[in-house]
Amino acid sequence: MTDLLRLPVEQKYEAELAALRDEDTGKKPYNWQLTPQAVVTYLMGGTTQSGVEISPKYVGHRRIIETAVATLATDRALLLLGVPGTAKSWVSEHLAAAISGDSTRVIQCTAGTDENQIRYGWNYAQLLAKGPSKEALVPTPLYRAMEAGSLCRLEELTRMGSDVQDTLITILSEKMLPIPEINDTLYAQRGFNIIATANNRDKGVNELSSALKRRFNVVVLPLPDSMNDEISIVARRVTEMGAGLDLAVPRNVESEIEKVVTIFRELRGGETLDGKTVLKTPTGNLSTAEAIAVMIGGLSQSSWFSNGEINADALSSNIIGAIVKDPVQDKAVLEEYLETVLKKREAFAEYYHTMNEVL
Ligand SMILES: Nc1ncnc2c1ncn2[C@@H]1O[C@H](COP(=O)(O)OP(=O)(O)OP(=O)(O)O)[C@@H](O)[C@H]1O
Ligand SMILES: [Mg+2]
Repeated sequence: MTDLLRLPVEQKYEAELAALRDEDTGKKPYNWQLTPQAVVTYLMGGTTQSGVEISPKYVGHRRIIETAVATLATDRALLLLGVPGTAKSWVSEHLAAAISGDSTRVIQCTAGTDENQIRYGWNYAQLLAKGPSKEALVPTPLYRAMEAGSLCRLEELTRMGSDVQDTLITILSEKMLPIPEINDTLYAQRGFNIIATANNRDKGVNELSSALKRRFNVVVLPLPDSMNDEISIVARRVTEMGAGLDLAVPRNVESEIEKVVTIFRELRGGETLDGKTVLKTPTGNLSTAEAIAVMIGGLSQSSWFSNGEINADALSSNIIGAIVKDPVQDKAVLEEYLETVLKKREAFAEYYHTMNEVL
């Protein structure tokens, strides 16, 4: 047991990665820790020849992960695109851990990100004392990935300004980074590549220039197709996160997850699951990640303030918090949903009452 709140996934899943590495005798792309097949097994789950169980990290189409892994073995970079909460960051972290054994080379792109955070910065004390030199240069995670021939992750690529994004063009097409201040050039080692994530829902994002777009293979991560997939993702993550937070996960958790996921899928999709009633959709994004957060919130509330059971009482205010992002518009949407849909369902009677009370 460690005191760290969260370990990098290459440490958390060290046993699985080691088991895969031990049996992985196939041909690997240069500087990869695993073969592409083994990377896909690590992400999608399976059993190794010696019987070690590999837990699924991503639940969805295998083909999507195969395309992502195959892209990283080429000279094109990978862009994971999708609405918030579709596991883009999660997949990117696991890919970097499986391929490079290090998921920590990551740059969070924001509106305030400048070129120095992408290319390199300077240690100003050294710069003033000695002038520009290799010693005064402060490498970024991207710089270190180029040096080491490993993967670098760029989170929320489209949140940084287009001019800063374009810094990546030379790095991606010529695999080198000029350092004019010291008349030097950093050439990327083989094995270097970039995994970027971007979500296509946010306001205030900066479009990728077409020059940059051309250097990325885009892989879209969809919301889970089926209700069962979504329930199993939420159940798995709630169990893992609950254990990390020392929260006991009660036995009836799956049936409550099913109810939360039903509410989310109906409101997100704009109709009831049987397709008979058209619904208004709230402004917020009701993703799987939100459903996970609702369950963890409810579990915490119930274990600290109540009897540890998970039920409408523990979950209602969390569900409302996830749905009502706009206090006027979303509240009306939810009220209508409660009256026209939940009120008529016996299984949701408790939810109908407690949510009405809280709302
Ligand atoms: N298909 C899926 N398979 C496995 N886990 C999933 C899936 N979809 C969502 N999750 C879970 O959702 C959580 C949130 O995912 P993550 O933070 O990676 O989303 P994101 O796409 O990066 O969102 P954002 O755009 O807000 O950054 C993770 O804990 C992840 O396990
Ligand atoms: Mg993310």
